Amino acid sequence: MADLAASERGRFITFEGGEGAGKSTQIRVLAAALEQAGKAVCLTREPGGSDGAEQIRELLVTGDPDRWDAMTELLLLYAARRDHVRRLIEPALEKGTWVLCDRFADSTMAYQGYGHGLDRGKIAALHKIVLGDLKPDLTIILDLNPEAGLARTRVSDEAARRGAEDRFERMKLAFHQRMREGFREIADGEPDRVALVDAAGDAESVSLMIATLVNSRLGAL
Ligand code: TMP
Repeated sequence: MADLAASERGRFITFEGGEGAGKSTQIRVLAAALEQAGKAVCLTREPGGSDGAEQIRELLVTGDPDRWDAMTELLLLYAARRDHVRRLIEPALEKGTWVLCDRFADSTMAYQGYGHGLDRGKIAALHKIVLGDLKPDLTIILDLNPEAGLARTRVSDEAARRGAEDRFERMKLAFHQRMREGFREIADGEPDRVALVDAAGDAESVSLMIATLVNSRLGAL
């Protein structure tokens, strides 16, 4: 008899937010909880996630803040995203695996659109050309005051591990503030897909809020 569970498409959950909001920690906690609940889980990130996209990531996250102009940055991000979706995300979803991605297209809208001021209609048009209608089933935006977030990135162990990957962190505070407003507008505009979670509290209470959210939206836990 056919295994019904195996033929069901996986769910696509993305984590978004500014620097130091705790995405990497929270995505790992959710992955462990979903695995505990019997789901096959693939944990990935952007920019990156596939071999080719990781090579493009290196170009994006290192070097001087003005190394690329905003449009070049956008094109590099979407080149990386297409490779990642075709090689990793789509095949995993088709197999029934739940894909948890640390950043995705909403980061582009927030950083390159709201942050750098690129025309948001053009970003949406490029998304359609490159990925058609692909959207996450659920997007969790970790919302945090950028001053607090940037301070966290400076003191965390993660910062030491990341080494030179600080090109975006070195952009001006006003850029990070515009980007936060962008994430909030995205959440307001698509409440069925996107949930804003207050990331100012301790990691455990944020994890609990996320688990409750995933359970109520996708019935997974
Ligand atoms: P990370 O710090 O979450 O690994 O992300 C790397 C940097 O890339 C981060 O500073 C945000 C930036 N970024 C964009 O500017 N646009 C995008 O579309 C994505 C995915 C990331």
